[in-house]
Amino acid sequence: MRLSDNVLFGRLKDLGVEVRSGVDLKEKTSLGIGGTTDQLLIRRYEALPDVMRLLAEHNVPHRFLGGGTNVLIDDGELPWIILHLPTAHPGVQIDGNIATVDASADLGGTVTFCAKNDLGGMDGLIGVPGSIGGALRMNAGAYGMQIGSYVREIELYRAAKQEIEIIRGADIRFDYRHTSFAPDDVMLRVKLDLPSKPFKEILAGIKVCNEKRRASQPLNQKSAGCIFKNPPGGSAGRMIDELGLKGHRVGGAMVSDRHANFFVNVADSSCADMLKLIDYVRARVRDSYGIELENEVIVWRN
Ligand code: EPU
Repeated sequence: MRLSDNVLFGRLKDLGVEVRSGVDLKEKTSLGIGGTTDQLLIRRYEALPDVMRLLAEHNVPHRFLGGGTNVLIDDGELPWIILHLPTAHPGVQIDGNIATVDASADLGGTVTFCAKNDLGGMDGLIGVPGSIGGALRMNAGAYGMQIGSYVREIELYRAAKQEIEIIRGADIRFDYRHTSFAPDDVMLRVKLDLPSKPFKEILAGIKVCNEKRRASQPLNQKSAGCIFKNPPGGSAGRMIDELGLKGHRVGGAMVSDRHANFFVNVADSSCADMLKLIDYVRARVRDSYGIELENEVIVWRN
């Protein structure tokens, strides 16, 4: 979608918003898949309520894209624009055991920054790509830990009320790869309450997790991490592997030959091919195990 209204451009500029025209979302996602559209960079998140009101007045459909590491976006010219809060470096402030982190901050960078300040807890998340905001929304977890356990409070934009709110961590449900946030809530900033731990000890834990990850996951290929959530008590990766589907391809989309729940873009895959591969694997697991796998990856169709 291309914006062309000069009145809208003027008002966006007044709000400190930068408009980028014709952005290729292949370059904004870890899967390297996605069509083209305009993008708004919202540099001051305090301006968000005004920006959202403006977009509603001008009937501009939009979606928020964070780190782009857990999303599969449709091909071609997209019928909505992309909103983005630019990445903060490091975007973390420490006060005692509390780390205040911008939602746009990098997850791995945050874990490292906290570790250097002798704050641990999130060590297992070090190799998980993406932003803090995305990690919060889906309660990212790995190696027995999940980010939700450390949330003291979150500042977010509540689309339903069109305002910025602060919510206590205790009032949010953090389940396995699922949270009680509304789909249109936008994460802005979080206070994490982290346990004290000497940097050296955290580093040792991080090294172990990194080695495990390197040994079992295709880290140097284009992917969105695991495609499916694990079913209760089971492992999607193990089932897909047992069905002999590692290496199975549809066009440029392939089931990783390293970890069967990672689907990789090996040759300029389209979204359509990746979706065909997802549907095929889901059907094979359903036929053999009677289990309906649920997507972990978020799919944005036109
Ligand atoms: N397995 C296979 N073949 C495979 C993959 C796995 O037999 O191709 C077996 C493993 O040998 C193991 C079991 O399945 O016995 C579980 O595998 P793994 O330890 O790799 O964990 P997972 O359940 O597949 C989860 C998360 C990962 C996270 C790892 C490590 C989900 C969907 N995935 O994977 O998170 O990194 O544990 O904690 O919960 C992600 O969410 O995107 C993600 C990568």
